[in-house]
Amino acid sequence: MKAYRAALLRFADDGSALYDEDGLLVIGPDASGRKVVRAAGAYSALAGNFPGVAVEHLPGRILAPGFIDLHVHFPQTDVIGSPAEGLLPWLENYTFPHESRFADPAYAQGVATVFFDELLRHGVTTALTFATSHPASVNALMEDAQRRGLRLIAGKVLQDRHSPDGVRDETEQSLADSEALIQKWHGTDRLGYAITPRFAPSCSEAQLRGAGELAAKYPDVWIQSHVAENKDEIAWARQLFPASRSYLAVYDDFGLMRERAIYAHCIHFDDEDRSLMRSTGAAAAVSPTSNLFLGSGFFDFAGADRIGFQYGLASDVGGGTSFSPFHTMLAAYYVGREGQTKQGVSLSPQQLWWRHTAGAAQALGLDGVVGNLQPGCEADFIVLNPQAMPLLARKVAHARNLDELLFSLIVLGDDRIVERTVIS
Ligand code: GUN
Ligand code: ZN
Repeated sequence: MKAYRAALLRFADDGSALYDEDGLLVIGPDASGRKVVRAAGAYSALAGNFPGVAVEHLPGRILAPGFIDLHVHFPQTDVIGSPAEGLLPWLENYTFPHESRFADPAYAQGVATVFFDELLRHGVTTALTFATSHPASVNALMEDAQRRGLRLIAGKVLQDRHSPDGVRDETEQSLADSEALIQKWHGTDRLGYAITPRFAPSCSEAQLRGAGELAAKYPDVWIQSHVAENKDEIAWARQLFPASRSYLAVYDDFGLMRERAIYAHCIHFDDEDRSLMRSTGAAAAVSPTSNLFLGSGFFDFAGADRIGFQYGLASDVGGGTSFSPFHTMLAAYYVGREGQTKQGVSLSPQQLWWRHTAGAAQALGLDGVVGNLQPGCEADFIVLNPQAMPLLARKVAHARNLDELLFSLIVLGDDRIVERTVIS
């Protein structure tokens, strides 16, 4: 067992933040030998319960749950900042040509290393990740995550049409490859598999049908895709699938909406789409830096809350511009303010932080497993040092309550304040 004494941030079941200015986080094995949080709370209340346990004292630091990135593309690590008129030309001119390089396993391994180094440097300890259409890209990613002991979910991209040579896959083979990867990786150590149709326009009906069959056969495997991101993309999807009520309904029609299905963007929805998200238990990965960079639009937080479907925050690198959860939370705040002019939504700092930690875990069906530091949770955490940035050091000294403190970190913080990332 080991204990850490510092300020401690956790979340209650209702999503509100719990904060101990002088806290104690005790980590040790559970009955099955997994390293978990054994106790978390005020130092004064807990210290006497753990005689003989070594305590590392970290004055001025904040212990917080590792962040969860609900949607990110590891092969787009080097695509960040590629400007385009919109999503479809961005895919065609930058993303597909770049992803074709991942046919080479050595190249994929090299990028996987950089990707995990970046995630961890920014305090992200779990991610739901797209690989490319090449099975070797999944193996490269999973092997690296396994070595580092990370809880990671990833999948081979399915794209058997409207995709150039080099990334296009073949229907039957792509489904067989996906199933083999499920058997190899899903539930191995802390790894999980996600069935990954890139988006409806890049998948034939046969491929979507096969993906839905896999999703039914493996109910605790995740599903990830994109939906309702960009107006041109939506028009294209509607034209390709005229029988479906909406773009989102295409996925439902092929058995791809259920719990553990995470759809990136979900911007241009009507209330029937929102109700479909809610009734199926699917969740949205809100990716504000990507949506602002590609000019895709603004996620409707008020609409999501009014109907009540699940969502969490995501970088969507390389459409997104940063691996930093702080940058993503700030962008989500800006987008919420844009909505506020119409709907009266302004996201609180506690909500923003929850949507990138415990709330994102809930969207994945992993609440109580990651994204929080309550007893029983896997002990992935970060050590934040606000003193690492001069302006932030001044600002936090003026914070009169938890909301002011968290807002200071969200607005001014970045990887410079992530002093340490600890994997359980
Ligand atoms: N839609 C289909 N593929 C992609 C992708 O790689 N990134 C984003 N943002 N949207 C997509
Ligand atoms: Zn994406």
